[in-house]
Amino acid sequence: MEVKRVQTLALNQLNELPPQFVRPDNERPENTKALEGVNVPVISLSQPHNVLVTKITEAASDWGFFVVTDHDISAKLIKNLQDVGQEFFSLPQKEKEVYANDPSSGKFDGYGTKMTKNLEEKVEWLDYYFHLMSPPSQANYEMWPKNPPSYRKVTEEYNKEILRVTNNILELLSEGLTLENSVLKSCLGGDEVELEMKINMYPPCPQPELALGVEPHTDMSALTLLVSNDVPGLQVWKENSWVAVNYLQDALFVHIGDQLEVLSNGRYKSVLHRSLVNKERKRMSWAVFVVPPHEVMVGPLPLLVNDQNPSKYSTKTYAEYRYRKFNKIPQ
Ligand code: SIN
Ligand code: FE2
Repeated sequence: MEVKRVQTLALNQLNELPPQFVRPDNERPENTKALEGVNVPVISLSQPHNVLVTKITEAASDWGFFVVTDHDISAKLIKNLQDVGQEFFSLPQKEKEVYANDPSSGKFDGYGTKMTKNLEEKVEWLDYYFHLMSPPSQANYEMWPKNPPSYRKVTEEYNKEILRVTNNILELLSEGLTLENSVLKSCLGGDEVELEMKINMYPPCPQPELALGVEPHTDMSALTLLVSNDVPGLQVWKENSWVAVNYLQDALFVHIGDQLEVLSNGRYKSVLHRSLVNKERKRMSWAVFVVPPHEVMVGPLPLLVNDQNPSKYSTKTYAEYRYRKFNKIPQ
């Protein structure tokens, strides 16, 4: 079935936002503005270990979100990643459609756009590209863009670097729970932990005050590590308000996702977030989801559960969690 892409729609220089993108009053950015003067935690990975554990643990508990600097991923590599992603989205539409995905038949990998299921449901102002990166033995390189030709090499390099930073953050978060530093990683499958890449592409939007790029949600991953181009738009929910995340060059935006909230029995919070779009400029972001393999059971860590802290979440496979989240079935 042919899918209408947001990028194609945006090319028509619309003056008005088509109705399927117009959010209800209570969701519109113009009615739900972010708090002024509040900043999200920014954490340098180069500070002394004990300070770092404390800061990351606090941010993961209070916000479920933090910005990471001094992660040692080179600015050049981040630039290359952004270039190959932009180049893919600049290809002629026909070339991109070769990679079209089909979520309704369970094929999430590839080039995609959400569609309305019924008249009430609103859609988001973005197109995306999704594929598994890690472990390399599981990656289906047929589903990675072949154009630009350097896409694979650059993305494989980024995968290695993001895995290194992920390991570091999972160790710090394990220590923050007074556990051995290997615990969280092994709960996520150890060396089998999966990294998924989602490139979000938000074209310029005629009426950004009425639309959302991505609607409010928590990520079902354990962690999400994201870089964006220099157009701001990400907002995180903190104590009954939205807080805008300022663009910070080459920084990584780190979200705690549902699986870490469950494993930590609620000590770490899966952050509610959304993204807004821009009238003049396209926004792009590159999100890496850190997830356990589908068959891994995830539940509150027994060491964190006792009479004072009863288990708050049920234990189930990641596949089951995912199925329920997609189908809006309570966990
Ligand atoms: C998301 O992670 O939900 C998208 C956020 C973004 O594009 O910044
Ligand atoms: Fe998200």
